[in-house]
Amino acid sequence: DLGIESHKGTYYQKSNKDLFDQLKKENKHSKYLPKIHIFPEAGLMNDPNGLAYFNDQYHVFFQWYPFGTVHGLKHWGHTTSTDLVHWSSQEFALIPNQEYEKNGCYSGNAIEFEGKLYLFYTANYKTAEGKIPKQAIAVMDQEGNIEKYAEPIISGEVEGLSGELRDPFVFKKSDTFYMLLGGSQFHGHSYAGFGDNGILLLYKSKNLFEWEYMGIIDIPIDTGYMLECPSLIQVDDKDVLFLSLMGVSSESQRFSNRFASIYLVGKLEIDAMYFQVENWDEMDAGFDFYAPQAFYGKRNIPLLLAWFGCGEPEYPMKENWKHGLTFPQQVSLEDGKFKRYPVKEIIEQFSNQQEVATSSFNIDSPTYYLKLNEGLHFKVGKENDYWEFIYNASAGKVTISRENLRQKIDETYGSERSTFINAITSVDVFVDNSFVEVYLNKGEKVFSFNVFQEGTTTVWSPAGQLEGTLYVSEP
Ligand code: FRU
Repeated sequence: DLGIESHKGTYYQKSNKDLFDQLKKENKHSKYLPKIHIFPEAGLMNDPNGLAYFNDQYHVFFQWYPFGTVHGLKHWGHTTSTDLVHWSSQEFALIPNQEYEKNGCYSGNAIEFEGKLYLFYTANYKTAEGKIPKQAIAVMDQEGNIEKYAEPIISGEVEGLSGELRDPFVFKKSDTFYMLLGGSQFHGHSYAGFGDNGILLLYKSKNLFEWEYMGIIDIPIDTGYMLECPSLIQVDDKDVLFLSLMGVSSESQRFSNRFASIYLVGKLEIDAMYFQVENWDEMDAGFDFYAPQAFYGKRNIPLLLAWFGCGEPEYPMKENWKHGLTFPQQVSLEDGKFKRYPVKEIIEQFSNQQEVATSSFNIDSPTYYLKLNEGLHFKVGKENDYWEFIYNASAGKVTISRENLRQKIDETYGSERSTFINAITSVDVFVDNSFVEVYLNKGEKVFSFNVFQEGTTTVWSPAGQLEGTLYVSEP
């Protein structure tokens, strides 16, 4: 019992510091902790925020309710790394302790300017009539001190739009700053709640504090009823736009999760206010992926992290932590086609190598990387507790099934996910305890999903011989 009114909870302060420390301590004994993925020391983690390579360090901020595994009052957590593998957790970056952000410090990004890191976020502010949109700013100096600006930099409703305007993503082009914002538009009714279609708003600024509203960017695809977490990155000479969408109808093997994340490759025509699309698709074919955010790493390499989660799935066991983030991934375009793959520092963690050419073998480590040279049918776990990779070559279809896990994970949206692919040249399976990422053709398609299994793992193929390499992470 946290002694708080509702599950929305309270914010971190002196009086609950001991509780927080105790929750963190208990979690150290969890059986399902990943070794390499970023996960919450306690409570629930969602969207990655404020991603940056700043002052010779990687900074990852994230949405966090630290006192329970529910979407409670959102803080910004903060962790840093020099290699994208070993992370050291920092003090809370943003605690929702101001009146203007009384319902949480929601998502946003970061941009470096004049030697400081500017953190943009949505100050969530609810009233009985609906939300009043507010976007806020905090500044981090070289020493890591973070200070909130006295008041939101953008505040108030926009005519015809829902109050759900959020998740600022700021970038610079020439000498101008631009901000993308997610939102929802009405066709004929009132302002409370979500509207009828998801929209992408654009603002511009010369100084990061004063912003001018430019209007809505035209995106020629179904954006559902609400657009969240826009993000943008340049790869080669193209723009890649990432959107997280609520209410996109599911179609044949796409958009099967509660919410969808998509990428669009093309060009953002700022003056004409539209995104010219060359190709686009759903980001991930798995169960547990949402709210990706892109940023530039060391030597300006385009990187991406996403929430390892989606919606509010029920887990079979009670743990005091929930969700985490995906591996940091490098983004690339191959013949204009979008790909993402774990950064090389992650791959280097899997050093202990052994060739496999058999139909069944055992793995003792909870963290391993299995590299297969072709698509096949295989199962991972134990006789009555396994997940399954099924390749139907004639249909060009790959399916991941969680149907036969002993610890069932919320099946509201089904227990299978499939995707189509022309031919499979490689299958890279990364298992980090309860976090699994499967990459087809080095990131042409990816499945991200959780499983909760224990003990020795058997990998076996009912269809034939498995050929590849098994890498185990050194303890
Ligand atoms: C996406 C999201 C964002 C919001 C945040 C709140 O998962 O709903 O739109 O800022 O989570 O935690």
